[in-house]
Amino acid sequence: MVFRRSVPALLIVSLTCSVAGATMAVAPGAMAAYVATSSLAAFTLVAPTSEVPSGLLARAVIAAGAGCPVLQGSTEAGTDFTLPMNLRPKPALAGAAYAAVEVCERGIPAGASTAMVGSRVIPASLPSRIDRIALTGDSGCQVNSSVVQDCSNLSSWPLARISRNIAKNAPDVIINLGDYLYRESVCPPNDQNLCASSPPPPGNLPVSGSAASWIADALTPMQPAFDAAPILMVRGNHESCARGGIGFFLFFSPQRSTALQCAPSIVGGVVVVPSNDITPTWHVTWQVGTSDADSHSLTLEVVDSAYGQDGSVGAFAAAQRTSYVAAENHVAKSQPDEAWLLTHRPIFGMLPTQFFPNGGSVWSSADQAAASQGLLGRYGLILSSHLHVAQAVNIPGQPGQIVLGNGATQLYPTTGYPTPTYGPLSQPDGSALSPLATPYPAPTGTWTDVRFGYAIATPGKGSKSWSFEHQDDRGRIFAECAVARRAVNCQ
Ligand SMILES: [Fe+2]
Ligand SMILES: [Fe+2]
Repeated sequence: MVFRRSVPALLIVSLTCSVAGATMAVAPGAMAAYVATSSLAAFTLVAPTSEVPSGLLARAVIAAGAGCPVLQGSTEAGTDFTLPMNLRPKPALAGAAYAAVEVCERGIPAGASTAMVGSRVIPASLPSRIDRIALTGDSGCQVNSSVVQDCSNLSSWPLARISRNIAKNAPDVIINLGDYLYRESVCPPNDQNLCASSPPPPGNLPVSGSAASWIADALTPMQPAFDAAPILMVRGNHESCARGGIGFFLFFSPQRSTALQCAPSIVGGVVVVPSNDITPTWHVTWQVGTSDADSHSLTLEVVDSAYGQDGSVGAFAAAQRTSYVAAENHVAKSQPDEAWLLTHRPIFGMLPTQFFPNGGSVWSSADQAAASQGLLGRYGLILSSHLHVAQAVNIPGQPGQIVLGNGATQLYPTTGYPTPTYGPLSQPDGSALSPLATPYPAPTGTWTDVRFGYAIATPGKGSKSWSFEHQDDRGRIFAECAVARRAVNCQ
């Protein structure tokens, strides 16, 4: 184990500590990982099997120049492996914002029973039959011109606590539904008591995220969850290229081909980043069930909904539709026993009525609802975040929608969620929101709860039924949603 005395500038965030006589400043919580492994973070991503046969990818975030650690472990057959990790490409023009870190990756061998990156143990495998899935979304500490959370207070921003309590549930796998990066402004002068240590956006790029903000907002507070189980990362709109996209594709995207997706370029002498870049739909299939007799296949279709409008239908919906067509085609072809759609922006989600003081449709997100229309018939469930609540919605003839956007970022108002008398893609009077899309019927039921937390999903006895247990940030159960026959009922 080698302790590096040279500390990258980005680590100067809020705390100082002293090791081996050297005093340095580090991000909260980063010290243990840094000293023990020389990795700033290490985790196991769920990846498509087209990327890696095991469906699992080891990642390590290291100080630039430290050199990639090796991935080592052993297989169930008792064979040891030691594999070099490869540097993940980093956009050349990401500049100072990402200069202090590098990312190393390597596919975990199929059949691995243990895995370590440097001296840090990472999850090595998924069970042959999954029966416990943790789900969360919308997690960063919000710092912008209108909302500032207290980033060092676990009651105000409980991501580290949520990560620990997710780990205590010993999930087989974790799904994060997106929106990781929320530190998008310089901490306002009047809010120094809340966010003085929060890394500001980089000044030299047309984006709001940097390596420092990703470390503070995600990599450090999520490490307990990273240690617990492989994690499937969905891209949120906060990971569009103009926001946290460079970091998302560097740290969390599971495909090698996406590493440079948000790479800045120079156009007319100005640095720009891509917009409306949609990553191709990808999927994973797991065996799930409470027993071997109940074991059946569950396919997750992961649709990138980083872009699009929430309250109106525009031309973008036609471009987005190809993502939902790809998902539908794959499910039609592969015929899993069960299929869920994972997409950050909900197809059938409700905003609070307070957001519409002059009336207007509470349904969100309109572009996604239009883009996916007629392509949802094979799903038993839609999972999203984006709205900062826990919510469930049933639209006649459609899969139930669960929203899990209560994962630590600033919550929405606690009241103002009556069941609408009109459906998605409708105005409140029932007329069409847009000539480009057909209104859905009014919901048969909705449920909304506004408190920090996450959910633990377990399959019911017999296939295609599930229980989603909602736990608050302290791990206390506050609701349970039963999923059966494409409907969600919460209480
Ligand atoms: Fe969000
Ligand atoms: Fe979002």
